[in-house]
Amino acid sequence: MKRIVIAIDGYSACGKSSTAKQVAAKLGYTFIDSGAMYRAVTLHLLNQHVNVEDLVKVEEHLNEIEIGFEGSSILLNGNNVDTEIRTRAVNENVSAVSAISAVRRKMVHQQQLIGRGKGIVMDGRDIGTVVFPDAELKIFMTASIEVRAERRQKELLEKGIDESIESIMGNLLERDRIDSNRADSPLIKAEDAIEIDTTNITLEQQIDQILDLAKEKINEN
Ligand code: DC
Repeated sequence: MKRIVIAIDGYSACGKSSTAKQVAAKLGYTFIDSGAMYRAVTLHLLNQHVNVEDLVKVEEHLNEIEIGFEGSSILLNGNNVDTEIRTRAVNENVSAVSAISAVRRKMVHQQQLIGRGKGIVMDGRDIGTVVFPDAELKIFMTASIEVRAERRQKELLEKGIDESIESIMGNLLERDRIDSNRADSPLIKAEDAIEIDTTNITLEQQIDQILDLAKEKINEN
């Protein structure tokens, strides 16, 4: 059966990763959360006390960083950092780090290598526009800020992190602003992406919608 590339882009906390992960599982495809890669880079820089505004210092530290995956877990230099990449410190610095072109070049290169064999679902901000401009299926996910903040709060609580809705909303809006306005690969909807507003639909409905679209593409000649 034909194997395709599915690119899922959109704002923070629209449910992209949860959806992408389950779509991949149902199709037997690889799932890559590209945001986790930018988060792992940010974590390393913070651990090394690098000022993320200092582009020269950030570039100097980039070759110390090796990102890997073990199933859907993310590895930073061989260590599982699934929990550490979700902290407030990482949330507050990741948009600045991911606006740096040298960081993006390194991540995009690795993402393209992973996607070479197709059979992949990758979520992020520039997957349908920059990483896989030829992806067979491109989805752009949106949701209201209130619903996004509630979903993110629930996700954090499940990881034992307690943060107020106001603080989460502030961070999401700030990240939307930086991610959408940066010079290199800003968050924009690809012309050929299909928009799905997830404000009033369940995770199961999001997954089913994308699976239906994927099956159409897979069965197309
Ligand atoms: O999906 P997320 O919220 O975990 O992503 C964290 C940050 O990483 C997000 O604020 C912007 C950046 N990012 C990016 O610039 N490009 C991607 N493909 C994925 C994420």
